[in-house]
Amino acid sequence: MTEAHGATAVSRSGGSAASGGTATTGGLLQVEDLTSSYGPVRALDGVSLTAEAGRITAVLGANGAGKTTLLRTISGLVRPVSGRVLLEGHDITKAPVESMVAKGMAHVPEGRGVIAELTVDENLRVGSLFRGKVGKDEFDRVYDLFPRIAERRNNAAHTLSGGERQMLVIGRALLAQPRILLLDEPSLGLAPRIVAQIFGLLRQLVDSEGLSVLLVEQNARSALSVADVGVVLNLGRVVVTDSASTLMADEDLRHAYLGF
Ligand SMILES: Nc1ncnc2c1ncn2[C@@H]1O[C@H](COP(=O)(O)OP(=O)(O)O)[C@@H](O)[C@H]1O
Ligand SMILES: [Mg+2]
Repeated sequence: MTEAHGATAVSRSGGSAASGGTATTGGLLQVEDLTSSYGPVRALDGVSLTAEAGRITAVLGANGAGKTTLLRTISGLVRPVSGRVLLEGHDITKAPVESMVAKGMAHVPEGRGVIAELTVDENLRVGSLFRGKVGKDEFDRVYDLFPRIAERRNNAAHTLSGGERQMLVIGRALLAQPRILLLDEPSLGLAPRIVAQIFGLLRQLVDSEGLSVLLVEQNARSALSVADVGVVLNLGRVVVTDSASTLMADEDLRHAYLGF
């Protein structure tokens, strides 16, 4: 298979996404031929992918592959040079970034940004302001999902561990009741046990509540262990799209692009 990993992208997803002429579901989120640049730097070069509803779609690739730019372009923080982003079939490519939450998309950026001096509870409340009225049961739901965060609700955010902080920013995003959650490198710098805990919870939300996740990760091994589908990016281009289990089993691909 190694030769297939060259210049052109290959989709080996068993025909359902192939151009067979029949209508497909189209996916919850569709990215079509997206190209984004920072001045002379072309960070994304004709990227196409689909995130299906009720699935975890992992976007994998080394540092600099374009993963963060992809999420920033999807959520409107970066304007693409060309290409389209469709959410439930509607073109949102030019939609204002602040309209995305109402459309059902929540973006958890890399870096786990919280307001350090505020408590966990205050951070959740501040994060929910854009939504108008958020009921107590919605906060309770976040605390139920993350008991560790509930224990620390009155502690200042700067006292949290990396894992707790990651849970807080995911919890804050869930308050917006998104249909799709965009996550940028949630595992970065966390112990494997904590990563497994957070990814396990994502799986649970997807399976039991129909949440959809677009998960960007350099940590391909962990991401593929929880994802349904994987998209491998290299230098701003899609190298391959396939089921997570097939990608996991492809030793050449893992060695060439996934670092394990
Ligand atoms: N703000 C920026 N200005 C200029 N170049 C950038 C900026 N952000 C990212 N890049 C470049 O775009 C490319 C993709 O970066 P990025 O999307 O951050 O990749 P990843 O998240 O996969 O590490 C890299 O070459 C990076 O150096
Ligand atoms: Mg990044």
